[in-house]
Amino acid sequence: FHEWLGSSYAMIFSHPKDFTPVCSTELSRTAALKPEFEKRNCKIIGLSVDSVSEHTSWESDIADVCDNFKGAPINFPLIADKDRKIAEMYGMIHPAELENLTIRSVFIIGPDKKIKAMITYPMSTGRNFDEVLRLLDSCQLTAKHQVATPANWLNGDDVIIVPAVNDEDAKNKFPEGWKAPKPYLRIVKQPKD
Ligand code: BEZ
Repeated sequence: FHEWLGSSYAMIFSHPKDFTPVCSTELSRTAALKPEFEKRNCKIIGLSVDSVSEHTSWESDIADVCDNFKGAPINFPLIADKDRKIAEMYGMIHPAELENLTIRSVFIIGPDKKIKAMITYPMSTGRNFDEVLRLLDSCQLTAKHQVATPANWLNGDDVIIVPAVNDEDAKNKFPEGWKAPKPYLRIVKQPKD
């Protein structure tokens, strides 16, 4: 996994079961968004506790129906975690749900191979992959510029200087200055790449 990751970010996400409706929409929608993940240097990898042959056969089903939900044929790897080894390691099996199926987990992994974010949804709720991209943007801004993103932030909105950067260092990093309605709330324009 680490070799495959190289110097990229990755989104690893689990789905409960092959040949199920919500999962089909999720994988296919993610495939359509792959160029957006690539722009952010982020690889995509899915996982369920099914076999390689089940994945392969389901992928051709998805290619047949993806037009129904603004999707695309699967264009990223799917892990066949038949023995649930990876699912157990990542805590993708929830004790209050079924013990033999994964819930809908998302992990953003950084190029340093560390987990940057986790999202967990129940089996009955399809995830919003625009939100995953927003999360990825936020994590990457923090890594690069030491800024945090406020509630409901969207790419291009103002951001917040993280508390770990003191005012002295902030002056060097953000020479155009910032707005501080409170000393701990320092608002700056979103840094450009
Ligand atoms: C689905 O993908 O549609 C699904 C899978 C497991 C439980 C509920 C829904």
